[in-house]
Amino acid sequence: MRVCILGATGLVGRELLHLIPRAWPGAQLALHASRDQELEVDGRRFEVKAATQLDAVDATGGELAFVALDDEHSARYVPRLLALGYRVIDKSNAYRGDPAVPLVAAGVNDGLVADEVRLVANPNCTTIPLTLALAPLRRHFGIRGLAVSTYQAISGAGIAALDQFLLDAQVGYAAHNRLGAAFSPSGYAGNTVPHNGKTDDSGFSAEERKLMIESSKILAFPDLPISAQACRVPVAVGHYEQVWLTCERPVSLDAVASAWAGGAFLRVVPTADGAGLSALATVHERDLALVGRVRVVPHDPTTVCFTVAADNLRLGAATNAVRIAARWFPAVDPTLQAPGNLP
Ligand SMILES: NC(=O)c1ccc[n+]([C@@H]2O[C@H](COP(=O)([O-])OP(=O)(O)OC[C@H]3O[C@@H](n4cnc5c(N)ncnc54)[C@H](OP(=O)(O)O)[C@@H]3O)[C@@H](O)[C@H]2O)c1
Repeated sequence: MRVCILGATGLVGRELLHLIPRAWPGAQLALHASRDQELEVDGRRFEVKAATQLDAVDATGGELAFVALDDEHSARYVPRLLALGYRVIDKSNAYRGDPAVPLVAAGVNDGLVADEVRLVANPNCTTIPLTLALAPLRRHFGIRGLAVSTYQAISGAGIAALDQFLLDAQVGYAAHNRLGAAFSPSGYAGNTVPHNGKTDDSGFSAEERKLMIESSKILAFPDLPISAQACRVPVAVGHYEQVWLTCERPVSLDAVASAWAGGAFLRVVPTADGAGLSALATVHERDLALVGRVRVVPHDPTTVCFTVAADNLRLGAATNAVRIAARWFPAVDPTLQAPGNLP
């Protein structure tokens, strides 16, 4: 099987280089980025070609392509990959809203990945763990509405932002200023900042709208009553989300735990105080969403408050993409196999 990664040198592309041999040992890789270059990942060297080579009339096709580019470049290259015969999973926002393109969180609605489907959109890195946590709760208790607050890692903004953050943090903390006055008030290091790109007339940012619109599409719940607040925190990897969910029926802690036990790709962290449920804990459990810290809201027995955390580069991006593809090409590693729609 020939597997193409477009954006192989980026944060998500590099994770795919770990996952593809687990899912499909022996797969032949075709790697592309902005230009010809060599890439070293954990001591392995890879030849990467300029993506423009795919435009050549004699460009080679293949079975499966992962596209880990920004929206603009995804829109440019996805049609070309489809024309070359690839089945494509796109990680950008370019196709998520297209009604003709399934938007899939593996373990929630991967039953949509039928044989005749050629293009699937991978959701945003906060949407995937949120919908994994919500789907079993919806089956058991129904959903009347929810509010979500996210605390997102810097790596969600790509490799350049992550490297700048690491550098700024190193320099800023070396200044030994307890207030953090050495940091830029608008930068990521030592800071909490609104995820405020493309804030529209509604007052919600693009990141917040993505979480709301995508959750509705994945759960096949039109007009899902959801609102979101998204910010970035000075963490390298691992998105943390706080959810207030109002159900159709009263809920209890035990009932929530048993609903999650029937979900997919979840690790329930049973501690009442949330010990073991942190952004960094997700990089030790990269392919699962961590859920826990459930509290029934004192004034309303139908509302529960809980925490969801996941590695944004893996469960929130590359792992979900591989699990989607495993619906077409079954994965050797069972932890990377999507289950099909759960009852
Ligand atoms: N990071 C996350 O947590 C996350 C989670 C979910 C979804 N996503 C989405 O996944 C996509 C990739 O994100 P990322 O974080 O991996 O980004 P990234 O680290 O910034 O990597 C971007 C990739 O795009 C390539 N590229 C840039 N310009 C190009 C061009 N003109 N032609 C071809 N390739 C070009 C880069 O290649 P060079 O190295 O050659 O510049 C690099 O491989 C984005 O759409 C993002 O929104 C990211």
